[in-house]
Amino acid sequence: MAKLNFGGVEETVITREEFPLGKALEVLKDETIAVIGYGVQGPGQGLDLRDNGFNVIVGQRPGKTYDKAVADGWKPGETLFSIEEACERGTIIMCLLSDAAVISQWPTIKKHLTAGKALYFSHGFAINWSDRTGVVPADVDVIMVAPKGSGTMLRVLFKEGKGTNSSFAVYQDATGRALERTLALGIGIGSGYLFETTFQREAVSDLTGERGSLMGAIQGLLLAQYEVLRENGHTPSEAFNETVEELTQSLMPLFAAKGMDWMYANCSTTAQRGALDWMGPFHDAVKPVVEQLYASVKCGNEAQRSIDSNTQPDYREKLEEELKALRESEMWRTGAVVRTLRPENA
Ligand SMILES: NC(=O)c1ccc[n+]([C@@H]2O[C@H](COP(=O)([O-])OP(=O)(O)OC[C@H]3O[C@@H](n4cnc5c(N)ncnc54)[C@H](OP(=O)(O)O)[C@@H]3O)[C@@H](O)[C@H]2O)c1
Repeated sequence: MAKLNFGGVEETVITREEFPLGKALEVLKDETIAVIGYGVQGPGQGLDLRDNGFNVIVGQRPGKTYDKAVADGWKPGETLFSIEEACERGTIIMCLLSDAAVISQWPTIKKHLTAGKALYFSHGFAINWSDRTGVVPADVDVIMVAPKGSGTMLRVLFKEGKGTNSSFAVYQDATGRALERTLALGIGIGSGYLFETTFQREAVSDLTGERGSLMGAIQGLLLAQYEVLRENGHTPSEAFNETVEELTQSLMPLFAAKGMDWMYANCSTTAQRGALDWMGPFHDAVKPVVEQLYASVKCGNEAQRSIDSNTQPDYREKLEEELKALRESEMWRTGAVVRTLRPENA
C-alpha cells in the first residue's frame, strides 16, 4: 500500500504498480468467481475479469438480461447458470444484483455461503443498512470493491487501456485472506487506483453523491438556470447552449483533464471575474441542502425510501412516468435536437 498526499491529507492507496495483475491472478488462481447479476456492473466487472484471465462464471435469472450474457459469450451450463447454481459453484460470490434484488435473493445466496467463501459487493448498501435489508452474512469474508463509475464505462476504459478508480473495504475477514482477495479483485476488474473505505462510508458517500453533484443537484441547477433564461425571453437554443451544451462539450473535458482551478485561470477575464464573484453565493445557497441530504442519507431515510419504493409491484410503471416527464421536459427535448445538430451526428 502506498501513502500519497492528497491536497495535504495523507491517504493509503493501492496502485497497479504495487499490486500488478500477475499478483492478482496468483492470489485468485484457485477461485471460481461467480458474478451474480448481469445488469450494468455485472458485464463490466465480469468481462474485464474474464479478459484478464480469471476463472469467472455468471449467475443470472432467465430473461432479456440472461440473453445479453449469452450474446457476450457466456455459455449456458459452462460459464452461465441460474443464480442458485452460480452461488453454489462460486468460491467468491460477487453480488452485483440491484440493491432491492439483493434483499429478495438473500436466502438463496446465504444458503451457499459456506466456510472459506467470500461475499463481494460493489456497494456498502446491503451491509451498512443490514437492519433494513436483512443481509447478515455468517462467518465468511465480506468484501467490497466499488468502482466510482458506471459498469459500462468500466468496460470501455478497460478496453482503452485506462481504468475507473474504485474504493475497497473489508467488513469481515474469516479466512485471513480477505484483504488480498479484495485487492486482487479490484485490480482484476480493471480499477485505476484503489482507495480504502468502509462499508458505512461508501454507502453514505455514494448515496450523497448520486443525489447531489453527480445527478440530483446537477439537474436541479441546470433546470433552474434554463428556466430563468427562458422566463426572460431567451430561446431554447440559447438557454440550452449556455446551460448544458457548452458545459458538457467544451468545459467538462477541460475540467476533467486539468481541474476547475485551471478553467478559472484560462477563461476570459469577464467570465473569470463573474465566476469568482458568484461561486460564493452558489456555495452558500447549496451547502445547507447538501447538509440536509447528508443527514437524510446517514440516518437511513434515503435507504429506506429506496427499499420501500423499489420493492413496490408497480415501481417500474411509476418510475417510467417520472422518467417520461423528465424526457419530455422542454430542456431535454431541446437537448435531443441540439445533439442531432452536432456536426458528428449530422
Ligand atoms: N450502475 C453503476 O453505475 C454502479 C456503480 C458502482 C456500483 N454499483 C453497484 O453495483 C451493484 C449492481 O448495480 P447495477 O447497476 O449493475 O444493477 P442493475 O443494473 O440494476 O442490475 C440488476 C441485476 O439484478 C437482477 N435483478 C433485479 N431484480 C431481480 C430479482 N427480483 N431477482 C433476481 N435478479 C434480479 C437483474 O436481472 P434482470 O435484468 O433480469 O432484472 C440484473 O442482473 C449495486 O450494488 C450497485 O449499487 C453500481
